[in-house]
Amino acid sequence: MESMIETLPDQFRWAAGLRVPEVPGARSAVVCGMGGSGISGDVAAAVADGPVFVHKDFGLPPWVPSLSEPIVVAVSYSGNTEETLSAVESAREAGLPIAAVSSGGRLSELAADEGWPLIRVPGGLQPRAAFGYLAGSVVQMIEAAGLAEDTGLDEAASITATLLGDGLRGPGRQLADDLAEELAGRIAVIMGSGLTAVAAYRWKTQINENAKSPAFVSVLPEADHNEVEGWTTLGTALRRTVGVVMLRDDSEPPAVGARFQPTARLLGVGATIVGEVWAQGTSRLARLASLTAIGDLVSLRLARAAGVDPVAVDAIQQLKQTLGDS
Ligand code: F6R
Repeated sequence: MESMIETLPDQFRWAAGLRVPEVPGARSAVVCGMGGSGISGDVAAAVADGPVFVHKDFGLPPWVPSLSEPIVVAVSYSGNTEETLSAVESAREAGLPIAAVSSGGRLSELAADEGWPLIRVPGGLQPRAAFGYLAGSVVQMIEAAGLAEDTGLDEAASITATLLGDGLRGPGRQLADDLAEELAGRIAVIMGSGLTAVAAYRWKTQINENAKSPAFVSVLPEADHNEVEGWTTLGTALRRTVGVVMLRDDSEPPAVGARFQPTARLLGVGATIVGEVWAQGTSRLARLASLTAIGDLVSLRLARAAGVDPVAVDAIQQLKQTLGDS
């Protein structure tokens, strides 16, 4: 199971060495994808220097064709996700340039038939375990379209390799063990802002899918204008089930940085403030990847503590089968 994360540095290395297909130049991009694929859009938007929008739904928002020289990047690991294929269909109907990232399925077939630029990532994994392949490929597409100056992929590979170490014996392991010990049996609330809000969302979804546990994201400074009130009437017994983790970044604006501790204290009256995790590295991608690597490890530790299989996603599969999406 640990192999779900062990290969992350190699995945970034693979993406760094990609021969990226020719992608039309663009002044804006819309990345369409769901779940473990869709997070690549959030990563690309955080890493890009130009406007990159993320769409996690059917069709496309009506304003997309009016964007300045847009490109639609569709990302689906299986290539068969209903929402993503629907977004592609809308882009095709609107005559927009399309690029694709996938390991196979209908999306790859469409890209081959239509001559769209396609990055084919290695198959056989759970989509969420292909984070480095998928996010790395989408970032490469965005760079090739002229919307990012530096992918940061080499640094993301080296920083995650250092954190995870050989056989996951790196310095990130102890941190993840300590965090997971405090979080086990609790409902995680992961706080972040800007770049770290993307990492917080990945923590949440990894805790959901790997540890089969509810988890929530709290985004600053917005949470200070609504969510902090929402905790005030929660009974003590429920508060005790909550564990708060703050994801921090040296480059966060000081006005945002000053809000973490007071907000966590408000959320956490009676709850456990598990701690802060600081991003490492220079490039935006490396800083994001350093946080997601720790979150992935934490989710696997939580799965072990709960005695659940981190790989299986029966509820997701069942729903896809019910809806005829596979
Ligand atoms: C499963 C996972 C899911 C899928 C999502 C979309 O590991 O992470 O969130 O990523 O159901 O499927 P794909 O990625 O195949 O488009």
